[in-house]
Amino acid sequence: MGSMLSEKQMESVEEQSELKEAILYVNGVRRVLPDGLAHLTLLEYLRDMGLTGTKLGCGEGGCGACTVMISYLDQSSKKCVHLAINACLAPLYSVEGMHVITVEGIGSCRYGLHPIQESLANSHGSQCGFCTPGFVMSMYALLRSSKKPPTEEDIKENLAGNLCRCTGYRPIIDAFRVFARTDDALYTIRSSGLSSSEFVCPSTGKPCSCGQNIKDDEGTTTRRICNSDILKPVSYSDIDGAAYTSKELIFPPELLLRKSAALFLTGSNGLKWHRPVSLQHVLYIKTKYPNAKLVVGNTEVGIETRLKSFHYPVLVHVAHVPELNKLNIKDEGLEIGASVKLSELINVLKLVVDQRASFQTSSCRAILEQLKWFAGTQIKNIASVGGNICTASPISDLNPLWMAAGAQFHISDCRGNIRICAAENFFMDYRKVDLASNEILLFVFLPWNSRYEFVKAFKQAHRRDDDIAIVNAGMRACLAEKDQKWIVSDASIVYGGVAPYSISANETKKFLLGKYWNQELFHGSLEVLEKDIILKDEAPGGMVEFRKSLILSFFFKFFLWVSHQMDGLPWSNGTVPASYLSTIKSFHYPSTIGRQDYEIVKRGTAVGAPEVHLSSTLQVTGEAEYTDDVPMPPNGLHAALILSKKPHARILAIDDIVAKSSPGFAGIFFAKHVPGSNMVGPVVIDEELFASDVVTCVGQVIGVVVADTHENAKHAARKVHIQYEELPAVLSIEEAIASNSFHPETERCLRKGDVDLCFLSSQCDNIIEGEVQVGGQEHFYLEPNSSLVWTIDGGNEVHMISSTQAPKKHQQYVARVLGLPMSKVVCKAKRVGGGFGGKETRSAFLAAVAAIPSYLLNRPVKITLDRDIDMMITGQRHSFLGKYKVGFTKDGKILALDLKIFNNGGNSLDLSLAVLERAMFHSDNVYEIPNVRIKGMVCFTNLPSNTAFRGFGGPQGMLIAENWIQRISMELKKSPEEIREMNFQRDGSVLHYGQKIENSTLERLWKELKISSDFLAVKKEVERFNTHNRWVKRGVAIIPTKFGISFTAKFMNQAGALVHVYTDGTVLVTHGGVEMGQGLHTKVAQVAASSFNIPLSSVFISETSTDKVPNASPTAASASSDIYGAAVLDACEQIKARMEPIASKHNFVSFAELASACYMERIDLSAHGFYRTPDIGFDWGAGKGTPFKYFTYGAAFAEVEIDTLVGDFHTRQADVILDLGFPLNPAIDVGQIEGAFVQGLGWVALEELKWGDAAHKWIPAGCLYTCGPGSYKIPSINDVPLKFNISLLKGAPNPKAIHSSKAVGEPPFFLASAVFFAIKDAIRAARAEVGLSDWFCLDNPATPERIRMACVDEFTKPFIDSIFHPKLSV
Ligand SMILES: Cc1cc2nc3c(=O)[nH]c(=O)nc-3n(C[C@H](O)[C@H](O)[C@H](O)COP(=O)(O)OP(=O)(O)OC[C@H]3O[C@@H](n4cnc5c(N)ncnc54)[C@H](O)[C@@H]3O)c2cc1C
Ligand code: FES
Ligand code: FES
Repeated sequence: MGSMLSEKQMESVEEQSELKEAILYVNGVRRVLPDGLAHLTLLEYLRDMGLTGTKLGCGEGGCGACTVMISYLDQSSKKCVHLAINACLAPLYSVEGMHVITVEGIGSCRYGLHPIQESLANSHGSQCGFCTPGFVMSMYALLRSSKKPPTEEDIKENLAGNLCRCTGYRPIIDAFRVFARTDDALYTIRSSGLSSSEFVCPSTGKPCSCGQNIKDDEGTTTRRICNSDILKPVSYSDIDGAAYTSKELIFPPELLLRKSAALFLTGSNGLKWHRPVSLQHVLYIKTKYPNAKLVVGNTEVGIETRLKSFHYPVLVHVAHVPELNKLNIKDEGLEIGASVKLSELINVLKLVVDQRASFQTSSCRAILEQLKWFAGTQIKNIASVGGNICTASPISDLNPLWMAAGAQFHISDCRGNIRICAAENFFMDYRKVDLASNEILLFVFLPWNSRYEFVKAFKQAHRRDDDIAIVNAGMRACLAEKDQKWIVSDASIVYGGVAPYSISANETKKFLLGKYWNQELFHGSLEVLEKDIILKDEAPGGMVEFRKSLILSFFFKFFLWVSHQMDGLPWSNGTVPASYLSTIKSFHYPSTIGRQDYEIVKRGTAVGAPEVHLSSTLQVTGEAEYTDDVPMPPNGLHAALILSKKPHARILAIDDIVAKSSPGFAGIFFAKHVPGSNMVGPVVIDEELFASDVVTCVGQVIGVVVADTHENAKHAARKVHIQYEELPAVLSIEEAIASNSFHPETERCLRKGDVDLCFLSSQCDNIIEGEVQVGGQEHFYLEPNSSLVWTIDGGNEVHMISSTQAPKKHQQYVARVLGLPMSKVVCKAKRVGGGFGGKETRSAFLAAVAAIPSYLLNRPVKITLDRDIDMMITGQRHSFLGKYKVGFTKDGKILALDLKIFNNGGNSLDLSLAVLERAMFHSDNVYEIPNVRIKGMVCFTNLPSNTAFRGFGGPQGMLIAENWIQRISMELKKSPEEIREMNFQRDGSVLHYGQKIENSTLERLWKELKISSDFLAVKKEVERFNTHNRWVKRGVAIIPTKFGISFTAKFMNQAGALVHVYTDGTVLVTHGGVEMGQGLHTKVAQVAASSFNIPLSSVFISETSTDKVPNASPTAASASSDIYGAAVLDACEQIKARMEPIASKHNFVSFAELASACYMERIDLSAHGFYRTPDIGFDWGAGKGTPFKYFTYGAAFAEVEIDTLVGDFHTRQADVILDLGFPLNPAIDVGQIEGAFVQGLGWVALEELKWGDAAHKWIPAGCLYTCGPGSYKIPSINDVPLKFNISLLKGAPNPKAIHSSKAVGEPPFFLASAVFFAIKDAIRAARAEVGLSDWFCLDNPATPERIRMACVDEFTKPFIDSIFHPKLSV
C-alpha cells in the first residue's frame, strides 16, 4: 500500500491532477460539462438538451426505457468498452470522458434507419413506441460489444432489463433474431481472417490503423485516428450488414488520447462530486470528509437519493480507481476489486471456470448462476461488487454466497492500514456492516474450492428475471471420506430474505459437521433448520409461510444436488431417484418461437393489408414526440402534487410556509383557489379536485406546487406539513361488506329463469357454493401520465397537450374547474405511450390540477408524474369478490347460477359501476345457464379510485365463471374441457340479459384449436411427464372467451371524423380516437386510403384534438376502429360523392389531378363524418336489452411447467385463436392479441398489488407497497410462452362491423387465464402425490408464493394446512 502522503502533498497532487475541463461526447459531438450539475442524471441532461428519444419510464433502473450506450477506453486493457446503461440512474459526471450514444445517434427517418431500427419497425415490434428506443439501444450495445454475433439466448438475456407493455415481446424477439448467430461452429476459429499482428480499432471492432503509433519526421509519436468522414450520415436501408458496421459513430479520437484524471465538480444544494483516480486520493477525501459517500454504479445510492430523499453532500465516484478495479487470478483464489462491475465479474468467472479444474470453481459457478438472475444487463454493466456488499441489503443475491464460499473482505482505513474480515462476520444488522466511517472495502478474496467441496446458489423471486429475491441462499458442503463413508467436514448454510441481513444457519452447520451424508442427516437437518431461522409472523415483506417453506425447500434441493454430484463415487448412498432430478436442473430459457397464422383479405388499396404501424419509423428512431417531450414554452413551470398520507382523515391544518421559501418556488394552490367548481367526476360528480376538509385515501390530491424545475417543485411539495385527525378506514371488499360501505345507487341485478326454484327442485344433482377473490392489476403503461397546459389570448383560453385516451374529458374537467365554457378549452393528444384504460378518466384530474396554476399565474404548467406517484394515485384494475352457488346435473350440465359480485371501487365512483355491469354481463363467459341471478355492488373503500383497464370488468366476471366451471369438473372427476363443451352457448341462446346469440363461431374455434394444439396428445404426454417427475409438474388448460363489443352506455357509441382532401391528392384525417399504440390511426388511414383508392402513404393522421372533432367518446371498449373507421368512411364517401360528377367527366391519371380539378370547380373537399352504432341498448330497469353489437370469440390453449418446491413456473406453449372477421390489418391485430395475452398473463400469474390492509399489516395503512418496477413485476421478455402461436379464424366475415372486421383490443386479454388454469392443473398433479384430490382454491395472480403453498408437501406441512391460501389485497 505504501505510506500515505501528507495532507499538503495530497492537496497539491489533487490540484495538479484535476481536469481543467470536464467533457462528454454525445452522438459524436463534443460537449463541455459545466460545473454545478452534479445533481443531474445523464437522462435529465440528455432530455434537457432536446435528445428526448431516451425516455423516463421509472427512474429506478427497472424498465430500460432510458437505455443509452456508453463507450470508454479501458485503461488497463486499452480496449474500447461499449455498454448499455440506464441513463436514469447514471449521475451526469459519472460518464465524464466517455462517449454516450443515444437512439438519435444511430439512425433517423431523414438520414436512414440503422438495421436494428429498421428490423424492429418492419417486424411490428413497436406499438406505443415508448419502450422502443430502450430496446433499440440495448440491442445496439449488445451488437457493438460482441466479438461475434450473439446467440438468441444472449439477446433475450440482454433484453431482460427492458420492459414492454404493448407487444408481448414476440415481435421484438423476431426483429432481433436476425442478428443472432445460428451456427456456433462458424466462430470457433478467428473468422475475420485477421493476422494476429493486425490492429483492431477499439471503436469499430474492425482492422484499422487508428490506434497505431506513427512517428513523424521529427520523431514525435502521435496516434493515428479514424477519418471523421465516417461520421457523415448514411442511409443504411440499402446496404448489407457487413457495410453498416463501418458507418457507426466512431469512438471519439480525443477520448483515446485523454489521460484519466481526477475531477471535482459541484451540484445544487452544496453537493460535491469527487472523482479520484488513485486509492490514496480516495483515502485522502475520506479523511477530509469522513461522511463522504462512495459511489460506483449509483444503483443503490441513486435510489436512496431519488426515491427515499436521502441527502449525501459529498459523493466520491470510485469507479475509475485502478486499485479498486483489480481482478487477479491467484493460485489460492480470485481477488475482485470493490469497484469491479458485475458484468466484468461475470466475464472473469467464465474465464476461470473454463481454465481451472472443475472442482476448484464450484463457488465461481454458483456466483455465475446467481448473476444470471441478478438485475438487467444495464444494471450489471455499472453496479459493483463492493456496492452490493456494502449496501448489505437483506436480499442481496451475492452476500449469502460470499459468506457460504468463505470469501474474505480486505478493508483499508484512511491511513492505509489493511485488515481482513471474513464475509460471514461482516454483516451485522439491517444495512449495517463491519466498516467504520474511515474505512473502505478494497477487494474480495474468493478462494478456490477443494475436491468434494460443493457450493450452490438459490434464489426465488416473483419473476425469474431481473427481480430482487424473496428468499435466496448460498450453501456449501465439504465432504470427506471416513470409514468408507462420506462425512461433512465443513459446511455453510446462509440465507437472505429471512432476517434483517444475510444470516448463517449456525445451528444447522453445527449439526451437519461430522455427520454422514445420508437421508438421516437430511431429515435431522430439516428439524434443526426449522428452529434455526426464525421468521416472525408480522415480518416485513410478508409471505412468512412461503419464506419459511423456501428455507426448507432450498436445503432439500441442495441435499439432492450434492447427492447427485456424488452419484457414482465410491461409498455414495445410492443414486438420487430419476424422478427427482428435474428439480435440481438449472433453468435456462430455450429460444422463443411463434407462428402467426392469418389470411389476407384485401379490400381496395389498403384495407386488409398487414401494414406496419404508421409511426413505427418515428418510434424506432426516438423522433416520435410524447407529451413530456414537447419543449416547455418560455416561462413554463413544473407541478408537483401535495398528497394525503392518510387513508381517511380530517385535515386540521396545512402549514406551507417552509415550502414557499423553497428554491424555485412559484406558487401553491389548494381547494380555496379553484376558480370554478372543485367537484369533478367522469359520470357522477363525486370527487374533489383538491381535498378540502376530509381525505379519503392515501395519495388523494390536497394541493399543487409549481416551481421552475420538476425537482424543485417536488422539494417544495415535500415541505408542506399537514396535520390530520385520523378516521376509521375501509381497506378491502370484505371490510366494505362488513361495514355496509357501498357507493350510492350501485346495486344491480340481472335475472333469467328462477334460480331459487331450480335449487329447490330435484333437477340439480349437485349444488356447490364458494368464493373467488380476483386480484387487481396496475396498468403500467410505459409513459407516465403527463399534461402540459398553457393559456392564450391574455389568459382567456386554455390549451393543453395530454397523454390521454379521452381528450374530451380533459377539456371538460379543465373547463369545469376553471369556470370556462368548453369552447374556450382545447385538448390535443398526439400519441400516448400506452393507456390500457388507465388514461381514460384518471388522467383528467391531473390536467385539471395543472390547469389551476396555469390559469391563475397565466403561465404554462407541465405535470408529469413520477412512476411511484402514478401507480399510487391513479387507480388500477378493480379487484373483485365473487360469491357463487351453482347447481348442476351429475353429468355436468349447469342448471342454475346464483352469483353475488362486488368490486373495489375505491374512494370515488369513477367508472366502477360500468365495470361492475360488464363483469355481470360476462359472468356466464360462454356457457348456457337456464337459471341465473347475478347481483352486484360497488364497494366504497379508502383506496384510490379504481378505473378502466383492458376488459373493463369482463375478465373478472369470466375468471369467476371459469373458477366454478373448474370446480364442477373436480367435483365430478371429469375434465374441465368436457364440462365446458357440454355447456357451450349456441346460436339462438338467450343470455341472462336478454341478448340473443347470433353468428357464434365458438365451436369452430374450439375444434380448430384442439386440433392445432394437439390438445389430447399433449395432455397425455403431460400425464406421462407427471408420473415420472415428483417435484416438477406440468399442466394444461384450454379456455374459451366471448367478449361483447360496444360501450355498455349507449350514448357513448358515437364517433366523429373530419377528412380534408388537398389538391396534391393527399388526405388529412382527424377523428375522435387516440393513438396509443394499438394501431388505430393506421387502420383508420387504411380505411380512408381504400375508400379513395389511393396509396396508404397519401393519408396522414396528425393528432386528436377537441377543436377538430368535438364530444368524442374515450378511445376504449375495443370499438374504436369500428366506430372511427365508420365515421371516416362516411366522410370519405361524402367527398367522393361530391367528386363523382367531375370524376365521371374526365379520365384523371391520378387522385391529385382529380382533387385539383374538383378544387377548380369549387367542390368542397372537406367533410365531417359521423357514425352511431345501430341496434343496441339496454334497460337496467327491466334488466334486458342488447348491450352489444356483436361478440368477439376466441380460445386459448396453454401448457405450463411448475417447480413445486419453490413455485416457479414457465409457459411451455400457448396457442391462441380468435375470430376477427376479415381484419382491417391482420398484423396489427396479431400484435394486439400477443400484447393482450402477455398482459393477461401478468394479471393471472405475476402482478400482485400489495396494499397496507388487514392482510398486509407491515405496510402503512392504505399505502401501495408495489409502486414501481422494483416491487411490481410485469412480464419481461423471458415470460413469453416458449412456443407462442396465434391464429385468426379464416373465412368468417363479420356482418356487423366495418369491412366485415371485428374488434380486437380487449377480447384476447382473458385468454391468458389458460395459463392460470394450466398452473392449477399442474398443482393438482402435485397435490395428488400427497393424496389430495379435492378442489382447492387458487387466487390470481398465481405467484410463486401461491403455487408453492398450494403444492402441499413435507416442507410446507410444518407451517400450513392443505386449505391454506396466501393473503391477497382485494
Ligand atoms: C433495477 C435494480 C435491480 C437490482 N437487482 C438486484 C438483484 O437482483 N440482486 C441484488 O443483490 N441487488 C440488486 N440491486 C441492487 C444493486 O444493484 C446492487 O446492490 C449493486 O451491486 C450496487 O452497486 P453500485 O455500484 O451501483 O452501488 P452504489 O449505489 O454505487 O453504492 C452502494 C453502497 O456501497 C457503498 N460502497 C461502494 N463501494 C464501496 C467501497 N469500496 N467501500 C465502501 N463502501 C462502498 C456506497 O457508499 C453505497 O453506500 C438492484 C438494483 C436496481 C436499481
Ligand atoms: S427510466 Fe431508467 S430504467 Fe426506467
Ligand atoms: S410498444 Fe413497448 S411499451 Fe408500448
